[in-house]
Amino acid sequence: MEKIKQKIFDKYIVKDGLDGLIHIEQTAHFGELIALGEDPSIVNAVWVGSLLHDIGRGRHLHKESHGEAGYRFLMENVDWLYEILSPFGFDIETVEKILLAVRDHDKGLVTNDKIIGSIWDSDRLSLYRFKGREVKTELLSTETAKLLKDYAKQYIAETAVEKGDKDLWKEQGLMM
Ligand SMILES: [Fe+2]
Repeated sequence: MEKIKQKIFDKYIVKDGLDGLIHIEQTAHFGELIALGEDPSIVNAVWVGSLLHDIGRGRHLHKESHGEAGYRFLMENVDWLYEILSPFGFDIETVEKILLAVRDHDKGLVTNDKIIGSIWDSDRLSLYRFKGREVKTELLSTETAKLLKDYAKQYIAETAVEKGDKDLWKEQGLMM
């Protein structure tokens, strides 16, 4: 698992700051928790989808959202993607859901699909990294994520301390 995470992180262009790898770590953690609450059989798909969701940041072409850029990146690098996903033995439908979750995660949508919804919600719960930002319950797709809002806020403040990114997070008012 750690190796897979590292391979994905190596491909990220935006590694620092509030949208950087700390954010991706947070979403992977939230994704695991959400999936466990929704359906334990989807934990791996949600975990890896959360790790991949922002891979398009810094890659978007004219008029493309970073979600669309991430989708394009994955389509253009299918051999690499195969290496990442094959250890999990997902069926085609699950792989398609992961790709759609990446493509549309920044469009403000909700869904009944548990894999896609859990990936989107993992990203939404990480919105607490921005000062004064609230997570709108109506924009969460899963019941589990709705229950995790307070936990997410607390976890983000603590992660910032652990990662030593104190000044950045202090600016955001997430730490004392
Ligand atoms: Fe994100």
